Amino acid sequence: MKDNTTPYPLHVAVIMDGNGRWAQARGKPRLFGHQEGGKRVRDIVQACPQLGVKYLTVFAFSTENWKRTQTEVSGLMTLFKRYIIRESKSLRDNGVCVRFIGDRIRLEKKLVEMMDRLEKLTADNDMVHLTIAINYGGRDEVARATKRLSRDIKSGKLDPEQVDAETLASYLDTYVLPDPDLVIRTSGEARISNFLLWQSAYSEYEFIDTLWPDFTPEIFAGILENFAKRERRFGAVTG
Ligand code: FPP
Repeated sequence: MKDNTTPYPLHVAVIMDGNGRWAQARGKPRLFGHQEGGKRVRDIVQACPQLGVKYLTVFAFSTENWKRTQTEVSGLMTLFKRYIIRESKSLRDNGVCVRFIGDRIRLEKKLVEMMDRLEKLTADNDMVHLTIAINYGGRDEVARATKRLSRDIKSGKLDPEQVDAETLASYLDTYVLPDPDLVIRTSGEARISNFLLWQSAYSEYEFIDTLWPDFTPEIFAGILENFAKRERRFGAVTG
């Protein structure tokens, strides 16, 4: 839950929207926008330690994104694999602990193996915690958590009378993460699109017009400053 005494957000979650429009505006295929978007992920992760962001969670592929064309879906999957190949070493060496959330069941085996390997490779890091949501949907996550919780009740491991919000949260993909303090969505859309539904109950939201491939560490820093001002004002009212 949000700590109102923290001026800067500990955990920032980002809905990286606008890659397709960015590419189309340049007469390029949508995948070109996703490639550029991948570079912005790298820039923003690198900026996190300096900006005091300890946890960064990015929405890379939703449970609804399978409805896109086969070309775009497989292009995105290839992009995730390339990102893992290209970035593993620098993520490890720069103290980034990487986790993936979402349902892995529908993902290609090779990609899942690479995700597992990167998680293991960076498990001891603690400078920045990067969480990448792939085949992730908030409702799907709660449904999967409920399934696991129900199994534990059925096997007698869990007493149904003891189940509260914290119990359910401990079954979510994000069980090791604090809730996001701030959720940013780029590209002018003001929707949460099934992202971290449970976890963002107390989050601040920032919707900005910038398309994700145009997002820079400077824009990120500006949003964090605004957040700090909002927080201070809120503290004064309640304090
Ligand atoms: C939404 O823009 C973006 C996505 C569905 C994909 C996000 C993926 C990346 C930024 C690629 C790299 C990620 C990692 C972690 C390497 P959109 O395609 O819906 O844009 P549009 O609304 O303009 O069509």
